[in-house]
Amino acid sequence: MRVLGIETSCDETAAAVVEDGKTILSNVVATQIPFHAEFQGVVPEIASRKHTEWIYAVTKEALDRAGVKPPDLDGVAVTSEPGMLGSLLVGVNFAKAFAYTQGLPFVAVNHILGHLYASRLTESAPDYPFLGLLVSGGHSIVCRADNFDAVTVIGATIDDAAGEAFDKVSKRYGLGYPGGAVIDKLSQNGDASAFRFPMPNLYKGEHQYDFSYSGLKTAVINQLEQFRVKPGTRSPADIAASFQKTAVDILLRSLFRAVEDTGLTTIVAGGGVAANSYLRARLAARPGVRAVFPPLSLCGDNAAMIAGLGYHYLARGDRSSLATVASSQTRGFKKKYP
Ligand code: KG4
Ligand code: ZN
Repeated sequence: MRVLGIETSCDETAAAVVEDGKTILSNVVATQIPFHAEFQGVVPEIASRKHTEWIYAVTKEALDRAGVKPPDLDGVAVTSEPGMLGSLLVGVNFAKAFAYTQGLPFVAVNHILGHLYASRLTESAPDYPFLGLLVSGGHSIVCRADNFDAVTVIGATIDDAAGEAFDKVSKRYGLGYPGGAVIDKLSQNGDASAFRFPMPNLYKGEHQYDFSYSGLKTAVINQLEQFRVKPGTRSPADIAASFQKTAVDILLRSLFRAVEDTGLTTIVAGGGVAANSYLRARLAARPGVRAVFPPLSLCGDNAAMIAGLGYHYLARGDRSSLATVASSQTRGFKKKYP
């Protein structure tokens, strides 16, 4: 079964063709980063405009690279939530029109479940159940996955997403955009113990698996004054490495607590921040857990994960109505503490 996936939730216009939820026949990602870089952040209006301009060509490229024509497809899957509404609308409307005109079944899927699915497109895909660590520019959650569509959120950020903290720190220090990859690279020459930043204290009750990034972000940004007062006495690499270490400590504290309390020792990571080399090294070094990461090409936003996930819905007969609308928020996720 060949599924065309469409992804336009943020600033990547993406289309892919995946066979049987497993084999990637094509995976085209057109990044808009250069158009947002001068603003040091994603500008929603520019994003939706670029999606509109590019979606046709990106989809055609995905079909051409896969060597398939529309009649060779068995279904269409699209991200309908969560994300920037104007951006989502472009993909959803395009996918609906494509499915309708080609007489193909159509299914709308959740972007976060897509990120969690990304590592299933590899040989090392683990069996369910496992713990998921989904960390991107818009979302940060620790969850339990019992199936591709049965995901229970255990903990989540109560304010900024992990990637958002990387991006905002980078922006304030003028390091570049998007901040995650820049800080990751800069940190490799830095001393992570040069600065000590605070860890949020949310240990109690229902928040014990939750985490927070706004305090860390503020503390790091406040150090900027020191940089201004005494230029040259502090190393940007040191501040990047110290920030990155604390950002990862915050995630891992919740994650390892969930490992202990659920007894699940397989961790599947996903989302743009899952590309972080320090996070990968820390998880690889942890005894007693098996951490599975998607390849770097599937960490960030892509449509292969959407086509792969969509296959499972379509294969069991699920169809979305052509009246489906996009939503900026996730609908219907359960939150439960183990
Ligand atoms: O999943 P994604 O492409 O888009 C969203 O759904 O948000 O994630 C983008 C986020 C950005 O915040 C970016 O700074 C972050 O992922 N990111 C990283 C790294 N590469 C990308 N964060 C930390 N380390 C990286 N190497
Ligand atoms: Zn994403």
